[in-house]
Amino acid sequence: MSLRESLPAIKTELPGPIAKAALEKRAQVIPAAVKSIYPIVIKRGEGAMIEDVDGNVFLDWIGGVGVLNIGYTHPELVAAVKDQADKYFHSMMNITTNPLYLDYAEALGKIGPVRGDAKQVFLTNTGAESDENAVKIAKGATGRPNIIVFSGSFHGRTLLTMTMTSKKAYAIGMGPFPDGVYRAEFPYLYRAPGDLSEAEAISYYIERLESLFDTHSPAKHVAAIVFEPVQGEGGFVPAPLEWVKAVRKICDDNGILLITDEVQTGFARSGRMFVSDYYKEAGCAPDIMTFAKSVAGGLPLAGVVTSKEIMEKVTPGTIGGTFNGNALSCASALKVLEIMQRDDYPAKARHIADIATKKFLEWKAKYPVIGDVRGVGAMLGVEFIKDEKKTPNPELVNAVVASAWKKGLMIESAGTFGNAIRFLCPLCVTDEQLEKGLEILEEALRENL
Ligand SMILES: Cc1ncc(COP(=O)(O)O)c(C=O)c1O
Repeated sequence: MSLRESLPAIKTELPGPIAKAALEKRAQVIPAAVKSIYPIVIKRGEGAMIEDVDGNVFLDWIGGVGVLNIGYTHPELVAAVKDQADKYFHSMMNITTNPLYLDYAEALGKIGPVRGDAKQVFLTNTGAESDENAVKIAKGATGRPNIIVFSGSFHGRTLLTMTMTSKKAYAIGMGPFPDGVYRAEFPYLYRAPGDLSEAEAISYYIERLESLFDTHSPAKHVAAIVFEPVQGEGGFVPAPLEWVKAVRKICDDNGILLITDEVQTGFARSGRMFVSDYYKEAGCAPDIMTFAKSVAGGLPLAGVVTSKEIMEKVTPGTIGGTFNGNALSCASALKVLEIMQRDDYPAKARHIADIATKKFLEWKAKYPVIGDVRGVGAMLGVEFIKDEKKTPNPELVNAVVASAWKKGLMIESAGTFGNAIRFLCPLCVTDEQLEKGLEILEEALRENL
């Protein structure tokens, strides 16, 4: 049976002998500041499965933290990249125009669910670079200095995006930070104060957001409001649609641009190509959207899509970069888009979401340690608590993650309190693999109750 079709199988103690040697080398040659949670050393990957250097087979529900929506080594991507490798690797757009960049910009411009008729796309290399450039574009287009971000957010590790990121564990010893970044409360409904109904809680969060205009920055100085449609690192907390509509209205009333960070939510994960597709249908499309991670199936590529009208206000020379729109990455990204549209990956996400959500809700009814199950499409989070006061239970999450790994299932924790399990499995997972993963996860949970 091919690795693509296989089920988890652990053959050695973990880590195995060859992995151990690699991890010892890692400790010598890689800074410990690059944290790793799993002592797994990869040999190869296919679909939703990886084989480690000792021959152990894992089902990967992390997928490079949302990079592998299409799965490992899709044969058509491999062929497209090999074909491009024979032609040229690199062509810096400031020097020679790379037609693949143009094709990708055109294709993404057609589907990018941002406001405006004509769209333009600026390609970068990472999510952080995209978010940082989205802010630069918003500042360039509005001539305003400030931005608003949210509690629980994660936008990257560059100095600006680290400042935009809420969790300060990522920024220890890194100050001083750029000015002009103000933070409002994200509508984390499960932890909304008091006994508010959903509508009341949304009004509360909107009032808190608007109060920033009095306490931190007048609205006329705000270039953009930036949010993740489903907070990733923050614990898979979705932004309620009614809140998004209200934020859109605040932006429209005050000449502020709305930016959705779809770095983790993008490329079919949500049951649509982007969560912003749902917003567009509801009349609250963003002005600017960033993307990264799953765009090129694992090759480094990312970007910003917005209207031509907004892009044209940005001073030439203020955005750019040597490797932006790398040819191998673009060849892969064009194929990802073709396959996701042809094989209806958003439908795959909805199918996975149906099976996994049903199971998670069954567990919620059975195990009082599960406080909340939430998400959009196949981006699902399960929040663990200790008691009725919703005291976070990160110890249990860590134990479950460790037990699951020993049984061949890779899952990751998330959340400001580290008490959520995030479900990000590749969308090409087979039904049998999905069922097996759920079985392992429940076993791991029971073992640690
Ligand atoms: C929502 C979001 N934005 C930005 C980033 C940063 O992306 P990168 O690590 O590619 O810089 C991440 C990474 O996890 C993310 O989840």
